[in-house]
Amino acid sequence: MTDIKLASQTKIIDITETREYGKYLYRCLAGPFRRYKKRVEYLKRTIRKGFHKKLLIFNGQIVGQIEYAPTEAAYYPIIGDNVMVMNCIWVLRKAKGHSFGKQLLEDMIKSEKDTAGFATIALQNHWSPWFKKWQMEKLGFKPLSVIDVVHKTKHKEQVFSIYLMWMPTSKRAKPPTWNQQELLEGTTFCTAHPLYHPQTYEQQRILSRVNV
Ligand SMILES: CC(C)(COP(=O)(O)OP(=O)(O)OC[C@H]1O[C@@H](n2cnc3c(N)ncnc32)[C@H](O)[C@@H]1OP(=O)(O)O)[C@@H](O)C(=O)NCCC(=O)NCCS
Repeated sequence: MTDIKLASQTKIIDITETREYGKYLYRCLAGPFRRYKKRVEYLKRTIRKGFHKKLLIFNGQIVGQIEYAPTEAAYYPIIGDNVMVMNCIWVLRKAKGHSFGKQLLEDMIKSEKDTAGFATIALQNHWSPWFKKWQMEKLGFKPLSVIDVVHKTKHKEQVFSIYLMWMPTSKRAKPPTWNQQELLEGTTFCTAHPLYHPQTYEQQRILSRVNV
């Protein structure tokens, strides 16, 4: 398919600014849909602070999503001046190879022109297929810092690394830092996230730091 034809069949819509596809604010592209308290509270608190979720629709089908927010409204405890945090990006496997990931990223950058840079996390040696470091690097992020951890209840023997990833929009942008202690608590805002902290797990931290 030519690039022109592909572009005419592709659109990216911000679902925080339209009622259409509203249920996708609460759910991921795949998997079960469950509207749950922590997510509802998260959206209530963050949409007015600059949280955005966008869907990429190709030929009428939703095949990609990106979600981002300023540091104070993000999933991860990233600290920085005028830094936007990409909570999540996902393009369905069946839609790979059409630069949809790049398009979602470029759309975010274009929408947030005054931002010093974009940060996210990446994982290495985690058992899930998510947030792979090489994929985040392919999108243009560079590692700034790393922490080695184990999960307290799953694959307990498997040490994996969490990276703070960074993509500045100018050379002068000050790189962000992160609160590593808070990172060990995981995230409660997306049940599909590899660092999801289940509501039923009562300990404060789902991860323990290891020194390798
Ligand atoms: C990362 C991701 C968004 C990329 O989307 P995509 O539409 O497949 O990728 P694109 O076509 O935009 O390609 C982006 C870059 O990666 C490269 N790339 C993509 N797949 C690749 C592969 N399998 N091997 C090598 N390079 C690859 C492309 O060549 C391109 O690089 P370039 O700009 O230098 O040419 C997608 O693979 C994805 O959703 N992965 C899972 C992300 C994730 O873990 N989300 C969290 C869910 S909880």
